[in-house]
Amino acid sequence: MTKMADNRSSVEIVEGCRLPVLRKNQEHEDEWPLAEILSVKEVSSRKLFYVHYIDFNKRLDEWVTGDRLDMKKLQFPKKEAKTPTKNGLPGSRPSSPEREVKRKVETVPLATQVPPATPVPSLPSSAEASQASVFPAVRETTTFKAREDHEQISSLTTNGTARRLIPPQPGRKRKANCGGTDEDSQDSSDGIPTAPRMTGSLVSDRSHDDIVTRMKNIECIELGRHRLKPWYFSPYPQELTALPILYLCEFCLKYLKSLKCLQRHLTKCNLRHPPGNEIYRKGTISFFEIDGRKNKTYSQNLCLLAKCFLDHKTLYYDTDPFLFYVMTEYDSKGFHIVGYFSKEKESTEDYNVACILTLPPYQRRGYGKLLIEFSYELSKVEGKTGTPEKPLSDLGLLSYRSYWSQTILEILMDLKPDNGERPQITINEISEITSVKKEDVISTLQYLNLINYYKGQYILTLSEDIVEGHERAMQKRHLRIDPKCLHFTPKDWSKRGKW
Ligand code: ACO
Ligand code: ZN
Repeated sequence: MTKMADNRSSVEIVEGCRLPVLRKNQEHEDEWPLAEILSVKEVSSRKLFYVHYIDFNKRLDEWVTGDRLDMKKLQFPKKEAKTPTKNGLPGSRPSSPEREVKRKVETVPLATQVPPATPVPSLPSSAEASQASVFPAVRETTTFKAREDHEQISSLTTNGTARRLIPPQPGRKRKANCGGTDEDSQDSSDGIPTAPRMTGSLVSDRSHDDIVTRMKNIECIELGRHRLKPWYFSPYPQELTALPILYLCEFCLKYLKSLKCLQRHLTKCNLRHPPGNEIYRKGTISFFEIDGRKNKTYSQNLCLLAKCFLDHKTLYYDTDPFLFYVMTEYDSKGFHIVGYFSKEKESTEDYNVACILTLPPYQRRGYGKLLIEFSYELSKVEGKTGTPEKPLSDLGLLSYRSYWSQTILEILMDLKPDNGERPQITINEISEITSVKKEDVISTLQYLNLINYYKGQYILTLSEDIVEGHERAMQKRHLRIDPKCLHFTPKDWSKRGKW
């Protein structure tokens, strides 16, 4: 057996080594991508290796046994290079999306992907456009003002602002092994210290990313009827990281160290829905608005849970500046959390979403786009345009791109001819109708490759392929927000003192 690292040969394997590692793939065939060893441990005199597959998203990192390492191709770490990343930051490593996702992402000239000061693919210059004389078969075409687009193009770079998260509140007095009394706080009554470890997890800058926060620390979370496998590090108290399962109350999100503790908690916990106001209900779907200042413990516990599935985020001690919109699905047992997004009460950068998450058991069923649609409905009520905080994750980008494309195509396809002429619409108008910020409208039009230049005008050309693809996608999009079911009055936070 050549592809083996038995206990003798694995002695040589240290952190930073690179070698092909067998990746067991449920959807495709097993493969041997290059991986980096991030940690080595011994369990029952058997060595285990924590590996990061170089060209894959960090959420696929895992502990593997020695028989999955291809020792023949072992590379030792170069002394000076501290796991450089693609963006040149030391001490971290590439957070590349899963390969199939990455391929798509790389082909997208989306403004939201562009780091600050990077030129953005622009609309065709008039010189190029004069050659673009082909006018493909169209079902409907619309034109928009060129001047505005150039104005927009010049401001298409985005700031790499990170997400915000908070660790739990400093500890309170220990009361008993399991039972606490104060349901509004994640106290230490469960035998769990509440102060987080002060590690590199509390900063957003990836250059401070340390070995601890690079590795998943929670094995499994039980939340109601679901068992969740975290993707990333989350700063739950260290004592809990050794547990095979961390138990969460699915309604107040309090974390407990055992099933017994959870059961005891449930006899006292009266919540059957998230705290805050229910501002939307249609069928079994509800949204609750939670003020990060008024419901601190809940908000903090929500962030700790969310961090398990969100990578590049700042851990923020203070939830006060945020509102949390939690989406639930109702059954006879209560309102079960499906996902959420957070939103700054005041954003100078027009952010209408800070972090967004669909819990893994509910993913890829349209809930992500439902959350996004809801965030834009809130912006519509506020009379503002909005954009998600950057950078977006790989899955965040896919979801937003899909939402923006469908939203814009819906509008373009509804346009009626103007006195027999081609219908006209401006970027501003699309942005006002949808509340999607202008930059995102432009990047989506570019991504969809709809923009042509013809006889001195920009023309949006909807090919049959685009139209048919859109119609097919919309037939599958069953989950939609019904604005009539939204009961939301925006507050002017600037007039409320310091939150
Ligand atoms: N692979 C490929 N495509 C995917 C995947 C995946 N794993 N997941 C979602 N998509 C695509 C879907 O195909 C769909 O596109 P389509 O309708 O055009 O086919 C689109 O993304 C949205 O799918 P939904 O089912 O509506 O979204 P979902 O409920 O899965 O939630 C979300 C998307 C919220 C991004 C989820 O993946 C998630 O929680 N990820 C972890 C946290 C995260 O990355 N959040 C975004 C960070 S950026 C920010 O917070 C501003
Ligand atoms: Zn509870």
